[in-house]
Amino acid sequence: MTKANNNIVWHGHHITQAERANQKQQKPCILWFTGLSGSGKSTIANAVEQKLFQLNRHTYLLDGDNVRHGLNKGLGFSEQDRIENIRRVGEVAKLFSDAGLIVLTAFISPFQKDRDMVRQLTKPGEFIEIFIDTPLSVCEQRDPKGLYKKARAGEIKDFTGIDSPYEAPKSPEIHIANNDIEIDKAAQQVIDYLQQHQYI
Ligand code: ADX
Repeated sequence: MTKANNNIVWHGHHITQAERANQKQQKPCILWFTGLSGSGKSTIANAVEQKLFQLNRHTYLLDGDNVRHGLNKGLGFSEQDRIENIRRVGEVAKLFSDAGLIVLTAFISPFQKDRDMVRQLTKPGEFIEIFIDTPLSVCEQRDPKGLYKKARAGEIKDFTGIDSPYEAPKSPEIHIANNDIEIDKAAQQVIDYLQQHQYI
């Protein structure tokens, strides 16, 4: 990676995040879903986005599998690549939040320090960590993409939960135990939080 260029100066904008948010009549934030592969992050994040849309909120969903087809194409699953994946997604999420949107992200984001790093990029209350707490055994049984089977067979290396670690959030704002909860109820738990804390 190239070194930071000392000749680049931050340019202030006339229109602020607060003004953009006000125009949209909402409080921007980043709903950061974390959990194992197959835990239900994307499914629940999609359901939350649908509910927000129905409530006339302006949103955008960033999803690991999709972002890795474009912006983060070329990044793998080594520790270094996952750190870079989350760093970039954190920066993009911050930009979308700055644009006044409610951002939803669905990435395994296995390391606490990386999630904390994104939190530190944001203003107090802007980052909402949502732990989709599905036991490994359940994720492995679901195995929607057949990846756990491949990882167990040694065909995929560094697979989260198998031969790469997952650090569960210590104090997430929202904790969803997702072994047999309905998707709609899980999504509603997030909407309830946003309403109780006056985001929406
Ligand atoms: S993260 O660890 O860097 O946050 P991310 O959420 O972007 O991961 O991508 C995870 C998705 O990539 C999984 O849902 C799965 O479909 C796929 N995948 C492919 N290889 C791996 C692997 N070695 N570990 C975890 N997920 C993998």
